[in-house]
Amino acid sequence: MSNELYAVMGNPVAHSKSPRIHSLFAGQTGEPVEYTAIQAPLDGFAEAVRQFFESGGKGLNVTVPFKEQAWELAECRAARAEKAGAANTLYRNGTGQLVADNTDGYGLVRDLVANHGVQLKGARILVLGAGGAVRGVLGPLLEQHPASLTLANRTVAKAETLAKLFADEAGAATMSACGFKEPGQLFDVIINGTSASLQGDLPPLDSNVIGADTVVYDMMYSLQTTTFNQWAQDKGASRVFDGLGMLVEQAAESFRVWRGVLPETAPVIKALRND
Ligand code: ATR
Repeated sequence: MSNELYAVMGNPVAHSKSPRIHSLFAGQTGEPVEYTAIQAPLDGFAEAVRQFFESGGKGLNVTVPFKEQAWELAECRAARAEKAGAANTLYRNGTGQLVADNTDGYGLVRDLVANHGVQLKGARILVLGAGGAVRGVLGPLLEQHPASLTLANRTVAKAETLAKLFADEAGAATMSACGFKEPGQLFDVIINGTSASLQGDLPPLDSNVIGADTVVYDMMYSLQTTTFNQWAQDKGASRVFDGLGMLVEQAAESFRVWRGVLPETAPVIKALRND
């Protein structure tokens, strides 16, 4: 059988680990998947998507800075992508419509719960940031029925807007928004979804949010411990995780959406750690 074409589209995209991840998935499952990276021009995303599918492409992952555009471009959206306002997965359905999905939140929850055994049900969760990355994961986090979800952001108004937007999904969970200095209490799980680490910056949190049992998760990943996780460790957090597992889990879920087969993630996470 000849290979079917998939790709990650972004700008820049050369650093993306997605081609490596999906080629490991293809090898493991025997699915005829060929997966490349495509750098779309900053002002030419829609055209690049059109060309990709017209030339026979089957599915796309979408990364920075195009996730919101991918969501807008789609003719229909998976329920979990609707509220996320951003899409990381595109494909055409049986009638040729462009469908958007978002597997980022699934990836985060799966990494926390299945890979690291973190209990989210009944947990007091602090999420840092209120940009696209955070918006994409709030729905799946709330589906786990935490006791509370506090959104802290540099620009408090953005956290307040997100808290309102997801109030319907919160159910019995207490949802609130504040600045970095305000939480003033201990949390069970702290998730850094700001892009501060990219600049080697730290959100200026008080260390009283962290106790010995607090689990800290940085949605970023890097070869060395991330700036945020280093800070959390220094303040006494016993378990800190970076976003590599999330990256592999969101990719696996995209693969399942496209191919109907969910690859095993553990060997792929291990392979990437050793790269
Ligand atoms: P992304 O798609 O990565 O979420 P984004 O939508 O631009 O990117 O959002 C970036 C997030 O990181 C925002 O919450 C931003 O805070 P503001 O809403 O106040 O801009 C946060 N952020 C970026 N740089 C930061 C820094 N140096 N310190 C703290 N927060 C920062």
